[in-house]
Amino acid sequence: MKTVEETRKMIDEAVNKIREEAPGFEPSAGIILGTGLGALANEIKPLKKIPYGEIPHFPVSTVESHSGILIAGEMQGKKVLAMSGRFHRYEGYSMKQIAFPVYVMKKLGVKNLFISNAAGGMNPAFKAGDLAVITDHINFMGDNPLLGPNDPELGPRWPDMIEPYSSALIKAAFDAGKELGIELQKGVYMGVTGPNLETRAEYRMMGKFADMVGMSTVPEVIAGVHAGMRILGISVITDECVPETLKPVNIEHILQNAAKAEPKLTAIMKAVIGRVDN
Ligand code: HPA
Repeated sequence: MKTVEETRKMIDEAVNKIREEAPGFEPSAGIILGTGLGALANEIKPLKKIPYGEIPHFPVSTVESHSGILIAGEMQGKKVLAMSGRFHRYEGYSMKQIAFPVYVMKKLGVKNLFISNAAGGMNPAFKAGDLAVITDHINFMGDNPLLGPNDPELGPRWPDMIEPYSSALIKAAFDAGKELGIELQKGVYMGVTGPNLETRAEYRMMGKFADMVGMSTVPEVIAGVHAGMRILGISVITDECVPETLKPVNIEHILQNAAKAEPKLTAIMKAVIGRVDN
């Protein structure tokens, strides 16, 4: 377990490297480009692209489809810092490693955090290819990025989770959906470690408490809340996880459904980012 001083030093070293690469860059929005948001990277006018490997203490992604580049750029008149490539607990990263970039973003001035993910839809009304705005979550990962000594400069020891996902940003997403003619579902996200998908019995249990299930997002959101950020999370429903009609998982299908939803998700995120206060 790292001490508060060690962690502070690590964050400072990463922040200094980014400041060195992009002098004077003050992002107001941070974006974690999960599944279904890859195309959003193309909407950013890049000022600087920094491979994770060049940033001290940044984990390096092992998932091939997640490339691992930090993009400092502009979108919709806002300065944004986007992580193209994210880290999952199932890859073996600790929750603290997954949360680390969020604190780096915070130190660089990010106040609004935008996150996407792929999720299984447990709510029977959800169809593959739907988008669901995350209204709340359940941490079912059995782990937490805030374990260990707390640095009060990063956030409080016992952060409350009364509004992990900003109601103002959720409203902005629905307003954007209405204007753009994009239908949005909403629901509670249950975060698990994976890497296996769930059993029927697990879906039956989880489906009573949550609308979607996925293997990411919760660590970054806990860190973001701890750091006082406003957060918007949107899930792409890539498969239907209703116990009675469950089919074997088909990764091709999951990726196809994510790709199908990508333009809609890109449009929504872009619209909301354009509207956030700095
Ligand atoms: N579980 C089930 N289906 C999924 C998941 C998950 O974690 N992620 C994407 N589809």
